Amino acid sequence: MYVITGVTGNIGSQVADILLARGDKVRVIGRNADSLRRFVDRGAEAAVGNLKDSAFLTRAFSGATAVFAMIPPDYTAQDFRAYQNEVGTSIATAIRNTWTTYVVNLSSQGADLPAGTGPITGLHDQEERLNRLNGVNVLHLRCTYFMENLLMNIPLIKEKGFAASAVRPDQKFAMIATRDIATVVAKHLVKRDFRGKSLRDLLGQRDLSLSEAFSIIGREIGRPELNYVQLDYEEAARDYREMGISADVSRSFIEMNKALNEGRFAVKRPRTANNSTPTSIEEFATIFAETYRAPGRQKAA
Ligand SMILES: NC(=O)c1ccc[n+]([C@@H]2O[C@H](COP(=O)([O-])OP(=O)(O)OC[C@H]3O[C@@H](n4cnc5c(N)ncnc54)[C@H](OP(=O)(O)O)[C@@H]3O)[C@@H](O)[C@H]2O)c1
Repeated sequence: MYVITGVTGNIGSQVADILLARGDKVRVIGRNADSLRRFVDRGAEAAVGNLKDSAFLTRAFSGATAVFAMIPPDYTAQDFRAYQNEVGTSIATAIRNTWTTYVVNLSSQGADLPAGTGPITGLHDQEERLNRLNGVNVLHLRCTYFMENLLMNIPLIKEKGFAASAVRPDQKFAMIATRDIATVVAKHLVKRDFRGKSLRDLLGQRDLSLSEAFSIIGREIGRPELNYVQLDYEEAARDYREMGISADVSRSFIEMNKALNEGRFAVKRPRTANNSTPTSIEEFATIFAETYRAPGRQKAA
């Protein structure tokens, strides 16, 4: 039995799809029974509850051959690192309570740093927490920036005709499609080919800047003139707040953007076959275009 957290999200959903297509036994965790139905209809067992609840999670992890663990974002958290640590502690407690022996943990580039990287600091804490569990094999997947983050620009592109964030337009960094992460997660859950505490970097197909990424996307969506514009940090923080993101999460995102601009993580990492994955930005641009053309997403949040 493979247990999947964050299963209605970017990565968990695709991990569950891969395992269910193989005919594996899967237990999916989410807070809403209706949103788990599409997995249950294909044979998954549903565990409905909150990751903060370690008693619930202990039941959900019971009998697991391997767990895919992640700390989902809560954009409304008043103290984001405290929220991450609450969920992280609950996950670690359930792993210990159930004697789960294989855990694939979703982490991030920059998780080696204890401070100065915004939301990634909570993933640093979680790596350390899971590393303290005796007798558990844990593989931390240090993923880079998700290409799916670029989708957040769709309302802005439709309303104002450009894409924007606080990241420098010319900063080249690693970007990855979440389907590539899901493929790696599913493989490690099934093979359980890791021992003790280990790390794997996942850096996507190649490094590129946001200007390059949006120029490729612009051509695919029929807007070859599409520009990427850098916002100053105050402007970007204001935009986050207008999107309903809490003051602390906005501050945290700005800290992460600064760290990326200053080259503190996800830049100039040596590429190998083990840390590179297949999906190119050109392929992702077709996924972007499908979402762009789909009904809805007409207004900025
Ligand atoms: N974005 C990036 O560039 C990047 C890069 C590296 C690492 N990461 C890390 O990747 C993770 C996010 O992965 P993702 O994008 O696949 O996730 P996601 O799409 O945000 O989905 C997470 C899912 O978790 C569920 N969830 C949220 N809070 C929950 C709670 N308290 N209890 C139970 N379920 C809860 C939600 O489903 P329900 O509402 O259905 O419960 C949600 O669909 C984060 O840890 C992030 O730091 C992100």
